[in-house]
Amino acid sequence: MSVGRMSGGKLVIASHNPGKVREIADLLAPHGLSVVSAARLGLPEPEETGATFAENAILKATDAANASGLPVLADDSGICVAALGGQPGIYSARWAGPDKDFTVAMQRIERELAGAADRSAAFICVLCLAWPDGRYETFEGRVDGTLVWPPRGTKGFGYDPMFVPEGGSLTFGEMDPAAKHAISHRARAFAKVLARGVADLR
Ligand code: IMP
Repeated sequence: MSVGRMSGGKLVIASHNPGKVREIADLLAPHGLSVVSAARLGLPEPEETGATFAENAILKATDAANASGLPVLADDSGICVAALGGQPGIYSARWAGPDKDFTVAMQRIERELAGAADRSAAFICVLCLAWPDGRYETFEGRVDGTLVWPPRGTKGFGYDPMFVPEGGSLTFGEMDPAAKHAISHRARAFAKVLARGVADLR
């Protein structure tokens, strides 16, 4: 019997961000996988000391797999702004400050852009699957787009209201969740997880 089965078919999501947990649960539900968040299990949130999205995703996933004895999926993601040399990148959550105020974080991007002509940006997501025996695998997804000001829409989270994906006219904040899930960085990383197969995670 796999550890996944012993957990009652639940995969631990190593995130304390309710917006992300909701999106991941939505993305996994059609594949017969239900999730439980690390926050719900009372697992501590490790410090993100990695220098890349992948390093942070591995750190969060392996830490939670170790602490819970269950298979874990972790997500490390953020927005990389070309004219800011890829910032805020892995610091995307930290730019929102202790109050996790993304109005402040979006204002900082706009301020630092200082009228730059190049408003291109990309959301990047690295997913890491980890097992209690120390194994792990990573999967990366990316969506390119343009930043708008002022921010628009209240349907998403984080930097969604200022990001218009390539080829579109609505921001992620204005799009229905299903439309965002069809093209997002997280959905693209998920497609790679699904291509690998999820039978051993049920
Ligand atoms: P972390 O991966 O938990 O360190 O934080 C990633 C941060 O990047 C989030 O808190 C959001 O601010 C931002 N982010 C990641 N994915 C998205 C997204 O799909 N929409 C909007 N913001 C996102």
